[in-house]
Amino acid sequence: MTVHGPGPSGLEAVGSVAVHTFEARRTATHTETPHTHAMAPYEEDLQDGQFYDPDAEYEPDPEYAATLAPDAARQRRERVGPTGRPLPYFPIPGPIAEHGPAQIIAMCNQKGGVGKTTSTINLGAALAEYGRRVLLVDFDPQGALSVGLGVNPMELDLTVYNLLMERGLAADDVLLKTAVPGMDLLPSNIDLSAAEVQLVSEVARESTLQRALKPLMGDYDYIIIDCQPSLGLLTVNALTAAHRVIVPLECEFFALRGVALLTETIEKVRERLNPDLELDGILATMYDSRTVHSREVLARVVEAFDDHVFHTVIGRTVRFPETTVAGEPITTYASNSVGAAAYRQLAREVLARCHAE
Ligand SMILES: Nc1ncnc2c1ncn2[C@@H]1O[C@H](COP(=O)(O)OP(=O)(O)OP(=O)(O)O)[C@@H](O)[C@H]1O
Ligand SMILES: [Mg+2]
Repeated sequence: MTVHGPGPSGLEAVGSVAVHTFEARRTATHTETPHTHAMAPYEEDLQDGQFYDPDAEYEPDPEYAATLAPDAARQRRERVGPTGRPLPYFPIPGPIAEHGPAQIIAMCNQKGGVGKTTSTINLGAALAEYGRRVLLVDFDPQGALSVGLGVNPMELDLTVYNLLMERGLAADDVLLKTAVPGMDLLPSNIDLSAAEVQLVSEVARESTLQRALKPLMGDYDYIIIDCQPSLGLLTVNALTAAHRVIVPLECEFFALRGVALLTETIEKVRERLNPDLELDGILATMYDSRTVHSREVLARVVEAFDDHVFHTVIGRTVRFPETTVAGEPITTYASNSVGAAAYRQLAREVLARCHAE
């Protein structure tokens, strides 16, 4: 592996912001111990299999860095991202003076265990860190999003179910503040499974969630709905309420199975219920570039969805299951980890996409 020396050409190759980052680190003391989260190493200190992501604001978690290593040298030299396309720089967003109206994002894939809930929590927390007001909606009767934020769903009297079914109930009665400043939660529990059946006989049953969220739109910049792993009525409600959809895809062999059905559903909802709906992006999760398999799956996903694939790719790391146990986002649980940096970059990419319109 060739690693750029610290000479001017090497620095130019990574862009002005990276130079700034690099210079800032150059003056700071650093440690070569791979198991600390201190400063990034000098470029000349990098061993084979290590990399330095010039855009990452934090020292990579050593385990996580290893998952990206085989691609990293090429990525840095050629400025291509893990998706094989030129990697744009997503600027750090400035503060905003006024909040709302909210962009509503549905985190959706009928396949289970692909990273919907993990992405909802951590994208939300990263957007909140950048000063955006965020509301997370737990729209899965399993209540995993609520659990992931330290809430015990069984103890809740009022949940998103009540908000959907009881007319006259104010959203404020159901809302919970999370430990992340600027991020609130509409929690849910098993009660929500009854809504799927009860909604069937309602008038305009597909737009029940949309109506429930309407009064909240002015208070938030982003509302992210964590969908359950199905394409039933609850998910159709989420898609009807949303402006955009993010589809997390695990970089595994069967990842693309069922995606056609999902895109068909999105298309139908757009035609019949919600003309504003857009497939914002496919988010590759649990990526491990050490395996040829993961790289091949990602290449196929890019082949199939092209510009719809987010440049940001979320690597596989045990840090994510740990955060569920801790009941907090990775951005606070392991703030300096690359898992946290990945979701911060995703937040910047989402902001850039929203502002590009
Ligand atoms: N990037 C990652 N690396 C490693 N593990 C991950 C990653 N993302 C999520 N996980 C873990 O994978 C499991 C499934 O993730 P998650 O609950 O976010 O998926 P989901 O799509 O919401 O699942 P469900 O369909 O059941 O709602 C969890 O244990 C989570 O901690
Ligand atoms: Mg989930």
